[in-house]
Amino acid sequence: MKVRIGIVGCGVVGTGTVKLLLENAHIIKKKTGIDILLTKVADKDWERPREIEVPLNLRTYDYMDVINESDIVVELVGGKTFAKSLILEALERGKHVVTANKRLLAEDGFEIFKKAKEKGLYIGFEASVGGGIPIVKALREGLVANRINTIYGILNGTTNYILTRMLEDHMDFSHALELAQKLGYAEADPSLDIDGWDSAHKICILSMIAFGRYVPFEDVYVEGIRDLDLLDVELGKELGYTLKLLAISKRTDGEIEVRVHPTFIRSEDALAKVSDVYNAIMIEGDFVGKTMFYGKGAGSYPTASSVVSDIVDIAKKVLFCSKDHDEFQWENQPIGIGKNF
Ligand code: HSE
Repeated sequence: MKVRIGIVGCGVVGTGTVKLLLENAHIIKKKTGIDILLTKVADKDWERPREIEVPLNLRTYDYMDVINESDIVVELVGGKTFAKSLILEALERGKHVVTANKRLLAEDGFEIFKKAKEKGLYIGFEASVGGGIPIVKALREGLVANRINTIYGILNGTTNYILTRMLEDHMDFSHALELAQKLGYAEADPSLDIDGWDSAHKICILSMIAFGRYVPFEDVYVEGIRDLDLLDVELGKELGYTLKLLAISKRTDGEIEVRVHPTFIRSEDALAKVSDVYNAIMIEGDFVGKTMFYGKGAGSYPTASSVVSDIVDIAKKVLFCSKDHDEFQWENQPIGIGKNF
């Protein structure tokens, strides 16, 4: 089965997604029978340096080319205003959407999901939380049999990178932030990271999946790391505590409490050992008990991995609803140690 996809926004994650598809589309086809055809990539600036040269025949300045030539539109522009109108336009024209835009989903997701539902279309948003960690799928599928009681963890790679540099290298806050920006981890507006908003967007999305109810973003308590002093971090370390920016969501007396703030945790705890750009999410369900998910929470390749997993997921859903199963034949797939992939 062929699925045509187009990308709007060729920044850090967009470029990673193009690279992944150019290199691994054949692997995905072998594993799933789904043939992903990248038709167009839209960006407003094709002169800026990128890790790879996007083939000329894929490039466009016009996002409508992407919408017109795709079955699935991948929104990687970020921000709110343009991204929102792009997604609504794509849905209006009958296209499924994949997005990494946690801010848009946390703040305006209600409208977007409502429109998708009306149109019978899918919105994939695995890449919006936890970078390369398949946490959305884990919550929706792997843990579906559980009543979720608590979710907490480190959901922002940039702040975790900054706190790690402060703790391990005695680096001050602004130098560590500069480094995180150079490495492509930070949001275009880094205040979203350092003031805790990005973590808040992500915990809101996870809470909505876990607790099955709308969590108004304005009700979340948010405190970032901007005002932390190197001394705070070092003093904590001497006393056996590590400072982390935690996002916490829990069920209490029929209510959902959602908050983000710097927290001292015992240095021997698993979360304290999560360093650099890594994220870790603890989820406690009534039957499964405590589970922990760990991986790179930001950066081009891990996030691209989640974007493409959504493309495959939507293609599979569409495929299973259609009559065109010709190329989807598990019996043709060799089973054994993965030399074929
Ligand atoms: N700025 C985000 C972070 C990117 O640092 O975690 C991934 O969402």
